[in-house]
Order: sequence, then structure tokens, then C-alpha cells
Amino acid sequence: MGDRSRPATAVVLLAVLLATGCTGTGPRRSGEFSPGAAGIGDPYFPSYGNGGYDVGSYRLRVRYDPASRALTGTATIAATATADLSRFNLDLAGLTVRGVRVDGAAARHQRAEGELVVTPDRGLAKGARFEVEVAYDGTPAPVTSPDLGSNGFLATAEGAVALGQPESASTWFPVNDHPLDKATYEIEATVPDGLTAISNGVPGGSTTTGGWTTWKWSERSPMASYLSTLVIGRYRVSTGTHAGKPMVTAVAAALPADGAAARSVARTGEIADFLATRFGPYPFDAYGGVVVDDQRIRYALETQSRPVYGPVFFDSGENAGVVAHELAHQWFGDSVSLSRWSDIWLNEGFATYAEWLWAEHEQAGALRRSFDTAYAATDWAKPTLDPGRAGIFGNAVYKRGALAVHALRLTVGDEAFFRILKSWTAEKRDGNATTADFVTVAQRVSGKQLGPLFDAWLSGTGAPPVPGRG
Ligand code: TRP
Ligand code: ZN
Repeated sequence: MGDRSRPATAVVLLAVLLATGCTGTGPRRSGEFSPGAAGIGDPYFPSYGNGGYDVGSYRLRVRYDPASRALTGTATIAATATADLSRFNLDLAGLTVRGVRVDGAAARHQRAEGELVVTPDRGLAKGARFEVEVAYDGTPAPVTSPDLGSNGFLATAEGAVALGQPESASTWFPVNDHPLDKATYEIEATVPDGLTAISNGVPGGSTTTGGWTTWKWSERSPMASYLSTLVIGRYRVSTGTHAGKPMVTAVAAALPADGAAARSVARTGEIADFLATRFGPYPFDAYGGVVVDDQRIRYALETQSRPVYGPVFFDSGENAGVVAHELAHQWFGDSVSLSRWSDIWLNEGFATYAEWLWAEHEQAGALRRSFDTAYAATDWAKPTLDPGRAGIFGNAVYKRGALAVHALRLTVGDEAFFRILKSWTAEKRDGNATTADFVTVAQRVSGKQLGPLFDAWLSGTGAPPVPGRG
């Protein structure tokens, strides 16, 4: 770091401006350092994420005591400034911050609703790499909203489950909580002996001292924060390898050892291999899945490399469909991530379509039936693209999104269709993308103008004609 990156006069001036509350009103001269934005700019969720920096990696060390529900954590965040920053925000819901260091020096910090505001001694110049260390503790709790339900760190009978979409990470660690800022993760969780702590990525083993066991996990591919998870409890864990990569599956010990949940999650490798034939190589360096037994968790989530399934999916027997759905997200949503939540059909439309592909794989004719059933049930007044913040998990996204995917296939033919999917997952791997990007790839690979097709299936307000049918 040269001295150009630390203009002392500007920083002193800025400190005076900050202290007098004048930064928002005065004219901005070039070279002046400014506060990073409190949101990354998502139209649906203006407070999610933050502006002015890009995280490269998180190292999280947390200790959780289920008896007291107390969590103690240290987060070490390596980031790069993308603007001349006087201060910056992290997202953090509840919890108490005990200290913040930036590049080893104590930094001032304040809290605002869902935010931790960090003011380092000296400004951070655009392009500068910096390391933030946050020490924190408290009793984590989920965040609840009327349209999105309850998301985040949930204490369970014997442990906890940190899970949720579109936001959950900020309930248990300080984070730039938006998929636009993907990063790698090293997660160490210390829990009482006898409990297991499961997270994303490659297992790093466990060590025990003084009645506590520390479990290590590392996710080496960039991950959107909502795809992080931490599951603590009594689990039957099976560790092995699949296709040369670590595979960790876990089923709550309270569930039957050879029940529907255990048998379904045991098919992870087989189903991932099937999807790889359609979508291209599996994008991560580990496989897995976790079935929890808490009845309040009524969904599954595609947490990176290791989806988490609520027990309800297996109430009426083996369910490979949900496994296909969550595994499909490893390509669609996890490796290729949305850039704004209004594009969520890029995740859910393709994951639902994967369920139809899997059904067809098990029984010829199932795809056509799934398509026809969804087509007949669709309320065409509701758009797939830009469904509204309360609509991001609705049928217009999941079912109508899958209909749009199949309409593309019927239009371009099987050969071009699967080339489009494989080009998409290869070109956007580990990145972010938009609907316009998808249309661009589809048009380039197929050589067809597809604008009107996507408009009709994603945004039109009437039932579109099914390509190739009467
Ligand atoms: N994305 C999840 C899926 O399709 C479903 C989901 C929606 C979800 N909202 C959630 C999961 C909140 C966990 C928490 O599989
Ligand atoms: Zn999904």
C-alpha cells in the first residue's frame, strides 16, 4: 500500500465532517472519502448487502451452547475497497459486537437496524485490500417478515439450524449479505461433545478438548451468503467420496436409520450424476445433504454443496424429486447466482424443471404430464420475471418458470437446448448473471431470435401458444 492510499489530510478533514454530521450535505470534491452505502442496491431488498467493498473470504469461528442458546463468534473478513471509503457497513441482525479491528487496528463501530457501521482510523482507498475482524456474541434469532416468513438462526431442541432465503447469514455472522458479493468460507464451529456441527464444503475433521468439539468446514468456491448453513445437533453422519470428491450426508438421529429421509438423501450421488449429464460438470468440490428433524422447517434449501431438507418432504415416503430440485440449484443459483432477487426464476424455474427431467428419467411421459398440469394451473396474470418481493417463492416463479424453460426447449430443439444449459453453467460458473444474460446465451447458441418467446413466457399476461403444438 503506497501513501497515495492513505491521504492523511483528507481523512482528518473527513473525520471532522463525520463528527459534525456534514458529509451528506456538503459538495463532494474528487479525492474525498465517502461512507459505503448501507445497501448493495437490490430493488426488492434495499437494505441487503452494502456498497463500497467486495469480500474475498470469510473465516468464521463460532461457539454455540444449546443449553444457554449463547453464541460467541469471531469473523475475519478479507475484502477489497471498490471506492474511497471513509467507513463501511456489514449486515448483522441482533447480537452484540465486542470489538472491531481493521487491518489489526481497533476501529470505531456503531449499530443501526440490521447494520454494523465500521469506521476505521484511516480511510480505505479504492483497490486497497483490507481485513476486518469482528468479535461478537449473543443469542441469535431468526428474522421474521410477513411476506418472507422466518429466516436465519433457529435454536432447535438439542442444537440449531442456520438457514434461510433471501437472507439468513446476518443472523449469525457479520456479512455483506447479498448474492452479488460471493466469497469463500472457512467455518469452525465449537459445540458440546456429542453434538455434530455440519456446514458447507469440504470437511476438515474435528478436534475435542475440555468437553467441546470443534468441527471444520471449508467452502472453496465463491458462495452467496444465503447459501451458508450451520446445522448443530445429533446426526447420523455418513462420510465418503463420490466421483473423487468428499461426500457428507447427515440425517437427524431422531429419524429412522433406514427411513424415507435417509434413503432419499443417500441418492445424492446418483441424482447429481444424472443432472451432470444434462447441465454439465458438477460445479463444487464436495457433495452432500442434511435432513433435519425440526417440524418448523417446512422447506428445503440449496445450501452450497450440502442442501438442507426439512423432515416434511419425506412424510409420505422416499422423495428423489426434492433432492433433484436442491441439487439442480448447485448449478442454477449456487454456481451461477442471480444479481438481483427479481431474477429468481433463473434459480427456481430451472430447479423445478430438473424435477421434471428427473421424473422423465424415472418414467417416460412424466415431463409432458408435468408441463401440461402446470400449464393448465398457471395464473398468467402473474409474471415469472420480476414477480414482486412477496412473489419470489410463488408458482409464477417455480412452475411458470419451468414452463418457460420447456418452451425454450420446444422452440430450439433438444440438442441446442442442452447446449444452451451447458454453455450457461460453464460461462457463468462461480459468478452472477441476469435474465438478459440468459437470453443472450440462448440466442447465441441456438442462432435464433428468442426475445418474443421469453417475453411471452416470462412476462406476458395471457397463456402463450405451446411451441410445436397445433
Ligand atoms: N429456495 C428453496 C427451494 O426452492 C425454498 C425456499 C424458499 C426456502 N424460501 C425459503 C428455503 C426460506 C429455506 C428458507 O428449495
Ligand atoms: Zn428451489
